[in-house]
Amino acid sequence: MDRIANWLNRNSLYVALVAAWVAMCGSLYFSEVRGYVPCVLCWYQRILMYPLTLLISIGLLRRDGNLPHYVLPFSLIGLGVSTYHYLLEKTDLFAGSAACQQGVSCTTQWINWFGFVTIPFLALTAFLVISIMSVIALVNREPAAQDEEGDPLRMPWLPVSGLVVIVLAVFAGLFVSGTQNTQVVPAPANLFPILSLTPAAGTMQAGADSTNVMVHGEQLYLQSCAACHGLDGLGVVNLGNQLRNSDFFADNSDEQVLAMIRAGRELNDPANTSGLVMPPSGGRPDLSDDDILAIIHYLRAP
Ligand code: HEC
Repeated sequence: MDRIANWLNRNSLYVALVAAWVAMCGSLYFSEVRGYVPCVLCWYQRILMYPLTLLISIGLLRRDGNLPHYVLPFSLIGLGVSTYHYLLEKTDLFAGSAACQQGVSCTTQWINWFGFVTIPFLALTAFLVISIMSVIALVNREPAAQDEEGDPLRMPWLPVSGLVVIVLAVFAGLFVSGTQNTQVVPAPANLFPILSLTPAAGTMQAGADSTNVMVHGEQLYLQSCAACHGLDGLGVVNLGNQLRNSDFFADNSDEQVLAMIRAGRELNDPANTSGLVMPPSGGRPDLSDDDILAIIHYLRAP
């Protein structure tokens, strides 16, 4: 335990270095290979994270004892932005906030591993690691320019470039395998099992009920889908395609459309026509089947 603590006291900024490079490569992987469109808050986090890769590399190379002072303002503000972003995704604390009303909604959850690991969560973790490592360096007055005898130390080219090269090599592998992925995935629309639907979904035609469903569907559509598919459902260039009066809606039953929306559509899906990704459930895993059926009814209405 002591040895690990000792090692960390001397080398915490190397951990920060790896965290920053992994975060940058990871975010580029999500946007450039997987095709996930960054929202406005994602861009702010990128603005704070990307410079840290070079800042920490150069500071370590030059053994600049002030390095933690340069890193902490970036990482702490980044921590604030990613925490805000994560809370926006997962809680109602900031419901009605004006953030991200244009372009991709900030609450689109492109990934949701284990039910809580989203992209802002990953950014939050990286900013937290970098902040903690910088504080450890600050306390231990690292990086030190001299050894115990007071002799100046050389630039640590090997560890700094070695770590950067390892991270780049790992991601280069991911980039290459991601872009050459020609695996054929069956088209979802025809092959998905019909999901079990609650009776309410089947009885939507009736009078007042159907008006309610329509209003509900419209509200949900505007909140969750309109950012990519347009306020009128006619699509937005480079974000999402036309839904209202589309062939897809004409050719598929409600259940089939529902199954497609639940699954989303990755880039390597043969049904993908736009070269853009549709996130599973439109990035809103909290919507129920009835919610999505209400959206479908709203979109089918003349
Ligand atoms: C982040 C952007 C984004 C959001 C949010 C989003 N979509 Fe999509 N959606 C897309 C893209 C891009 C495609 C086209 C994928 C392709 O090329 O096949 C798509 C395709 C679809 C399709 C298939 C259309 C067709 O012609 O193949 C349906 C249906 C659909 N979306 C419904 C929804 C609904 C309902 C919501 C809200 C719950 C939603 N989408 C939210 C981006 C989005």
